[in-house]
Amino acid sequence: MKPAIPQRPKYYDLNLANLPAPGLVSIFHRISGALLFVPVIPALLFLMQATLGSEAGYLQWRGVLAMPAVKLILLGFTWLYAHHFFAGIRYLLLDLHWGIGKEPARASAKLVFVLGAFATLLVAWRVW
Ligand code: HEM
Repeated sequence: MKPAIPQRPKYYDLNLANLPAPGLVSIFHRISGALLFVPVIPALLFLMQATLGSEAGYLQWRGVLAMPAVKLILLGFTWLYAHHFFAGIRYLLLDLHWGIGKEPARASAKLVFVLGAFATLLVAWRVW
């Protein structure tokens, strides 16, 4: 008698490209939450102090913030906040049992990405 073929080990597929939208929203929500805590909040507090402390400081930082590379970093911060915000609203709605079916949950996850991108583009349009 042939020996039974052993079951192949199962691995989690950690490739982000294969995750459905809700999985991506979840991972980016966690990453954005951590990055908002550090470095975004400390950087914004520092900027607030530097620009409100003196006129010279304001003018110096105005020059820095006009640089395209710095604007891109700030847009990155904006996306982190926008994604965290819209994903957060989605989680609060899910907590209320709104849209918990598979299809609505996938649709709302895609909407989170669209709204995050739209908010970031809106800010990009304002700062450029
Ligand atoms: C700068 C402000 C914020 C910071 C630093 C922050 C940070 C975080 C962090 C670190 C987590 C834990 C993520 C995890 O372990 O999965 C979290 C979760 C959460 N945040 Fe924020 N957050 C901020 C603003 C907001 C806002 C404005 C909302 C409202 C929409 C929000 C809604 C949520 C919700 C609902 C969760 C729990 C998600 C879950 O059930 O897994 N957050 N936040």
